[in-house]
Amino acid sequence: VDAAGQQLFDELIAQDSRIEPRDWMPEAYRKSLTRQISQHAHSEIIGMQPEANWITRAPSLKRKAILMAKVQDEAGHGLYLYSAAETLGTARDKMTEDLIAGKARYSSIFNYPVLTWADIGAIGWLVDGAAICNQVPLCRASYGPYGRAMVRICKEESFHQRQGFEILLELANGTQAQRDMAQDAINRWYAPSLMMFGPPDDDSPNSKQSMAWNIKRFSNDELRSRFVGMIAEQVRALGLTLPDPDVRFNEDTGRWEHGPLDWEEFKEVLAGRGPCNAQRMERRREAHEDGAWVREAAAAYADKQARRAAT
Ligand code: ACO
Repeated sequence: VDAAGQQLFDELIAQDSRIEPRDWMPEAYRKSLTRQISQHAHSEIIGMQPEANWITRAPSLKRKAILMAKVQDEAGHGLYLYSAAETLGTARDKMTEDLIAGKARYSSIFNYPVLTWADIGAIGWLVDGAAICNQVPLCRASYGPYGRAMVRICKEESFHQRQGFEILLELANGTQAQRDMAQDAINRWYAPSLMMFGPPDDDSPNSKQSMAWNIKRFSNDELRSRFVGMIAEQVRALGLTLPDPDVRFNEDTGRWEHGPLDWEEFKEVLAGRGPCNAQRMERRREAHEDGAWVREAAAAYADKQARRAAT
């Protein structure tokens, strides 16, 4: 341990200041951040799949253009996040290898199927809504490159959320069949989106240390409860309902509450046994193999440029 480095690190954290890539940092801090940021990056990249599957089926040219832009945004988010993680010393190739090998985590939410067009609305509203709730506090994460990447990501996520809400609003004001489709999508995406915030606080091994390091600012349950409050209000504007009779604001605790969640299902999804895990991983591997020629061409070009510069 570098005693002077540790002291400076502790001071920076105590002042709620930022740690930058060249600063000394404890190995455990580096490791935990690499874990979180790489998982986050993988989630963005895997998260492109469920929505990209619907680009050809979007109901109008306008919806198609919006959905394409959104899926491209997710790719961009993945790339900034891989770059942020690389500043901690792990190469993007290594992170990709781990993902392809099935050794890395990505968000549970992307292992659920997208059955109807209304699901695209529910994903924007609930999944991106949960992402914003979770990520706005991460803009203040103590690690500089992560916090800065989150600022732009959150702006884009806000647009994603609004486009999802708007899809649902249009369906909610449409025919009975369209209203039913919107309600059914909300029914299926509600619980998985609440689980995006991670396990309950008493079963969250990383939270305490991450909060002490000012990476996480709020606990998983705190953020989940805020999110429930947000959607409980918004669902009324849709004239639809949340599939949870236990949602209520507790005046005594000042917190929103929800009904029990199926944490066994969450564990199954994390263990790779969710409804779409196998398909998502297979697609990711295929895409990686299909893209091999691009990586080879880019490497050959970089090589040529380097040789030219050297002569
Ligand atoms: N999906 C998959 N894995 C999860 C999830 C989830 N929804 N929630 C928690 N986990 C994993 C954690 O990664 C951790 O596993 P690990 O120790 O092997 O890394 C384990 O479950 C225990 O959880 P916690 O101790 O609570 O982990 P942590 O403190 O890292 O909190 C959280 C989890 C809230 C997801 C945090 O990592 C985070 O805020 N990450 C950044 C946001 C993010 O990744 N969002 C991705 C989805 S949003 C989107 O891309 C649109």
